[in-house]
Amino acid sequence: MLGIIELGIQYRTWRSKAAKGKKSPRSAPSTPLAKMAKQLNEESISLESVMAEFKLSNTTLRRMMSHMSDNMDRGLESGLERSTIAMLPSFVPELPNGKERGKFVAMDLGGTNLRVMLMELEPGEPMRTKQFNTRMPNAAMHGTGEKLFDYIAKALCDFLIERELAEECLPVGFTFSYPCDQTGLRSATLLRWTKGVTATGCVGEDVVQLLEDAIKRDGRVKVNIVALINDTVGTMVAAAYEAGGHCDIGVIIGTGTNASYMESSKKIVHGLANATEEYNHKTMIIDTEWGGFGDNGEADYIFTRYDKIVDSKSDHPGVNSLDKLIAGMCMGELVRLVLERLCENKVLFNGIGSKMLRTRNTFPTKYISEILHDDCGVYSNTRQIMDELGIEGATFSDMLLLREVCVVVSRRSANLAAAAIACVLNRVRRPNMLVAIDGSTYKYHPFFNHWVCEKIRELLDPGLDFKIVQTGDGSGRGAALIAAIVSRVKREEEKRLRDLEIQRQKAAEAEEKRLLEIEAEKEEAEERARKISEMMRYQIERGAEESHQRFE
Ligand code: GLC
Repeated sequence: MLGIIELGIQYRTWRSKAAKGKKSPRSAPSTPLAKMAKQLNEESISLESVMAEFKLSNTTLRRMMSHMSDNMDRGLESGLERSTIAMLPSFVPELPNGKERGKFVAMDLGGTNLRVMLMELEPGEPMRTKQFNTRMPNAAMHGTGEKLFDYIAKALCDFLIERELAEECLPVGFTFSYPCDQTGLRSATLLRWTKGVTATGCVGEDVVQLLEDAIKRDGRVKVNIVALINDTVGTMVAAAYEAGGHCDIGVIIGTGTNASYMESSKKIVHGLANATEEYNHKTMIIDTEWGGFGDNGEADYIFTRYDKIVDSKSDHPGVNSLDKLIAGMCMGELVRLVLERLCENKVLFNGIGSKMLRTRNTFPTKYISEILHDDCGVYSNTRQIMDELGIEGATFSDMLLLREVCVVVSRRSANLAAAAIACVLNRVRRPNMLVAIDGSTYKYHPFFNHWVCEKIRELLDPGLDFKIVQTGDGSGRGAALIAAIVSRVKREEEKRLRDLEIQRQKAAEAEEKRLLEIEAEKEEAEERARKISEMMRYQIERGAEESHQRFE
């Protein structure tokens, strides 16, 4: 990649060579490169000042990590009352151990897509899956809650009927990637919508109930919803299944961002205080909801003027601040705002740009990945995107600048994601930690993975090590796997209770036998005592008789 800075250096080198040759820069040969570099050099002040706002030093990132960690502690202790990181309980006690078996269904509602999946598991055999994906229509995401859940229920019913599974009452795991106050594995109240969804009548309601009601309204299938989970929990579980039962963090960097990790139940004070079911396990996966970090102004030192604009014009201003800084929902709009400003200052597109460039939300985040996928010197994606934006007459330097803006904005996002991941890893502190990451922003960006890895290495506490794996469809597969874990744990619990009952019965029988033996012994002893006293009485009587006779 020939970046702006490299061009600037080339230009400066060329200028110093020219100076040594006693040629005035004015009389420099006017090659296209020289012209462009000169232009860039003159413009670099305003470009650099814009870009400097997006640069974050490791000191700033460490400051953020320490604030995040404090919030995580407070979240575990007191929930959202004293923290912007909710640390929600998932009620998932453990990771898969390979002994799961049976047929399970997963439903996955995340950003804009709905996925229904059937998974068949048999220990020692590869999992078999069939799935159906659909894009959620805008009307469902922004209408009434009833309409939204009717849409989801219909997709589930159609899927099961097509596979002749309508009557099997299969266990369903439901991935619902919005913050929920979970009081049990299958009871969770929606705290707020994120990622731009606005469906009415859902916040404050039990999401499993909303889905069950919709399935009842549809009336065509019988299912058993056994768990509601967050996509990060699904990602962690799916990765653990593949890695043989071990995964330390599940991370999503898609439309939104979030992470889950395994926590000791003792620390989950707030999450377990309102539990509607007994929780007797030593550990539980925690859904951090780190996207909320910054909602109390504690990340203001990171916000640029562009972030503030994006937030103020979003569907939920002041909510899920870290989501807006890192994830895909806002990244494209941030780039557009920077481009608009550079254009207004005549640094870009000759100060003209286009009407579309000045219109909100016309630069989707996928444009960033597409632009950065262009090979060095080939600008086919970039040109096409500029066509789509109605920008005419863009120069080579415009394309370089456009690319540079995409790099700077998305690199900041990668650095913030890395800081958030390093913060959790520094808390988990296990040897060779495994980080599972899923999500479109992470997956489709050509350098995101590299930047995240590099930055985590810089921020991780000395002596700790980690490895990143990318999981595809983790949230969907994870939901089915959690339904499977729940069935296995239930099976194991039932077996434990059966074994306990058998043990109890055996103990009762042994106790009864012991009591009978004691009783028999007692009777025997009484009999002995009776006989002895009889004998003694007889002897006393005989003695008395004999002495009587002697006196006579
Ligand atoms: C948002 C949601 C969170 C989800 C994340 C990734 O941050 O609030 O629940 O896990 O997006 O999809």
